[in-house]
Amino acid sequence: MTMATKIEEAGFRPASRIAAIGVSKILQIGARASQMKRDGHPVIILGAGEPDFDTPDNVKEAAKAAIDRGETKYTALDGSPELKKAVVGKFRRENGVEYALDEVTVATGAKQILFNAFMASIDPGDEVIIPTPYWTSYSDIVEVCGGVPVLIPCDAEAGFRLQADQLERAITPRTRWLLLNSPSNPSGAAYGEADYRPLLEVLLRHPHVWLMVDDMYEHIVYDGFRFVTPVAIEPKLKARTLTINGVSKAYAMTGWRIGYAGGPKALIRAMAVIQSQATSCPSSVSQAASVEALNGPQHVLKERQESFRRRRDLVVAALNAIPGIDCRTPEGAFYTFAGCAGLIGKVTPGGRRIETDADFTDYLLEDAHVAVVPGSAFGLSPYFRISYATSEGELKEALTRIATACAKLV
Ligand SMILES: Cc1ncc(COP(=O)(O)O)c(C=O)c1O
Repeated sequence: MTMATKIEEAGFRPASRIAAIGVSKILQIGARASQMKRDGHPVIILGAGEPDFDTPDNVKEAAKAAIDRGETKYTALDGSPELKKAVVGKFRRENGVEYALDEVTVATGAKQILFNAFMASIDPGDEVIIPTPYWTSYSDIVEVCGGVPVLIPCDAEAGFRLQADQLERAITPRTRWLLLNSPSNPSGAAYGEADYRPLLEVLLRHPHVWLMVDDMYEHIVYDGFRFVTPVAIEPKLKARTLTINGVSKAYAMTGWRIGYAGGPKALIRAMAVIQSQATSCPSSVSQAASVEALNGPQHVLKERQESFRRRRDLVVAALNAIPGIDCRTPEGAFYTFAGCAGLIGKVTPGGRRIETDADFTDYLLEDAHVAVVPGSAFGLSPYFRISYATSEGELKEALTRIATACAKLV
């Protein structure tokens, strides 16, 4: 059921801009799993899109100090001068990219950055190229803004990465943006410099296409993978690239709601116009905390990365040991996106045929009491996403249950 139908049932006619947008499958599964838990079933939820670690103590202390100093009022519209300086410093130090203060913006999460950017730049019918599997909010936000998501399937064989010839074919006169996310939610795949170069060459040939990159999982990469952001590779694209990042995943600060971006001044100014009517400014206390996150000690990033790597290895090995499941080793983030083509067509002990990845994940929830998200929720089937941002003990138990449930399929 779409959100629109739900609202209409309550006697309200929703605006057409939200009519096409359904309640996300991730939320539906989460709600069903939580209900089963409340009913007493021992459900393990591997759907969370946030680290299970706590926000570092130095960051919490900085927030408390800000409150005590009285920093509890509106700040500058799109970021306090202190946080903008910290963002400029971060881009210089970690990415080798130079932005001026008026080329950076801060918002209530990277999600609001995306929203501001699309609201500020898309007219009805404008196209946004999005490789799949993709974080579902991308296409929903584009649609809310009147744009047309152009989804390009990128399967496991392609490393879940967009290829230059696919990009070339997808570009039309109406293309406004290409949106890339590395490392990716949900696939964990990341673009190295050699992966990016051919795509950036295509963009150089199409000056009307702008590039939006979501680097949210920059700090969660494994096996010596060298993270790089496109503007550092091809400075000629800087004048039409928005580089998005945030503190949510790197510093386990999802609830603080701070995201930021660097981009050309005119776009940043237009985004501020949207933000001024949406939220006036991001939370003052969260901004103070984020200054400490970006400027303070960074050792916590490495420690947590190592913990995530151990869990990734555990999950990938356990999944690949199950006949019918095929899991590529992700370069980053805290998700695996395993193929389940080998299980399609099999029959459950209850006599139900598994036709789709959603049938498979429904079966896992019912039989194994493990909640994972089907690939269809991210625009690519037949796959399923596991978030391993949970304890090793819980992961081991969940994977044992998944293996047992799969062994029962005939
Ligand atoms: C790829 C990606 N980008 C952006 C976000 C949003 O992050 P924020 O908490 O800063 O809004 C998420 C959150 O799940 C994400 O997975």
